[in-house]
Amino acid sequence: MQNFVFHNPTKILFGKGTISNIGPETTAFSNKVLLVYGSGSIKKNGLYQQVTESLQNAGAEIVEHPGVQSNPLLSHVRAGIALTKTHHCQVVCAVGGGSVIDEAKAICAGAMVDHDVWKFFTGKKSITSTLPLTTVLTLAASGSEMNSGMVITNEETNQKFGFANKHLFPKASILDPEATFSVPANYTAYGAVDAIAHVLEFYFTTADPSTPVQDRFMEGLVINAMESCDRVLADLHDYQGRADLMWTATLALNGLTGAGLGKVGFPMHMIEHSLSALYDVPHGAGLSAIIPGWMRHQSEITPKRFAQFAERVFDCRNGSVEEQAQMGINSLQKWFEKVHSPTSLQALHIPTQDIPRIAENALALAKVWRMPDYDNGRIQAILAGC
Ligand code: NZQ
Ligand code: ZN
Repeated sequence: MQNFVFHNPTKILFGKGTISNIGPETTAFSNKVLLVYGSGSIKKNGLYQQVTESLQNAGAEIVEHPGVQSNPLLSHVRAGIALTKTHHCQVVCAVGGGSVIDEAKAICAGAMVDHDVWKFFTGKKSITSTLPLTTVLTLAASGSEMNSGMVITNEETNQKFGFANKHLFPKASILDPEATFSVPANYTAYGAVDAIAHVLEFYFTTADPSTPVQDRFMEGLVINAMESCDRVLADLHDYQGRADLMWTATLALNGLTGAGLGKVGFPMHMIEHSLSALYDVPHGAGLSAIIPGWMRHQSEITPKRFAQFAERVFDCRNGSVEEQAQMGINSLQKWFEKVHSPTSLQALHIPTQDIPRIAENALALAKVWRMPDYDNGRIQAILAGC
């Protein structure tokens, strides 16, 4: 167990009927509100009505910034920053999934400076203050509702970069599982894959040999992500399943799993972000295509860790350590296939001759994320296994 500081300031209001809290939670900071949302799902599922009523009843003057797309774009972030400055908005309210919340975070940071917001993503500038942010989560996946990370695509340079900064934590997030009833089966599965990936990144990159508390917590989150996703795919309006999946995804990347693990990394995300940047692949779908290949590559380096995962998550008890490790990876890949999340580059219609181009793109992020043990050759070898 390594030393750690755990400080997560985000207030969570969880459960049925919590949407009406968004007004007071937001105007507690200011009544000049920038409302950020996506391409229209909230208008179809009635959330737009509920949220704007709650904000107006709490005295908010709303400026809208709709049209955030999945894998949010820098150009749209810049437009949101300009709008915020023109109307002197003092608080931002995001209603959506990780893309909407991440774009809102970038607006909160960019609104406080005169330089281009992309300078934060390349490490040229660091964030020292942000506008306050409140969120209503509509898709269980990224964990952005309760973390300090954000990911934006610069479409001019084809770079999808992300980073964390303590000023990016939302002040308050509303997690009403009923807000996710309208998430279709494919994005429900992609969200569960993303939550599982967030756990695996830490589980398999920590170098600490003895982290029993974090291990059992992480193993439990992976099991819950699969079981709750299975329930929801059987009935998209299963409240218990949606509630379990929502809270699992939030806990999978809010800092708790990593507390005490020491240095960890995001190698699978480093590669996946290139798939999303270059082919606009849904984040979770890109991850399920990368995870089995990366796990087979990494299991040659730390087979015992993979054997523990196989035994505790999939009850694989026979054979050698190496055989157990492979059985665990195969079991996870089978689950991805069961929920129809793609498990290869071919399934994503990405030709293998693109591997050098993808590796080149991923290497740029590996440098920004200071991952010296990933060079072009290693990334290409992992991609060849996907
Ligand atoms: O445009 P809208 O209407 O919002 O439609 C979205 C979008 O088309 C739709 N959707 C969302 N909630 C819905 C719904 N459709 C029906 N009913 C609802 N209730 O689903 C599609 C995907 O939404 P999106 O927000 O893109 O998905 P997700 O939540 O998976 O977010 C993905 C983004 O999060 C970033 C990813 O890189 C990607 O850009 N990540 C953020 C992280 C963080 N902040 O810590 C970490 C993650 O690893 C991830 O990288
Ligand atoms: Zn992710």
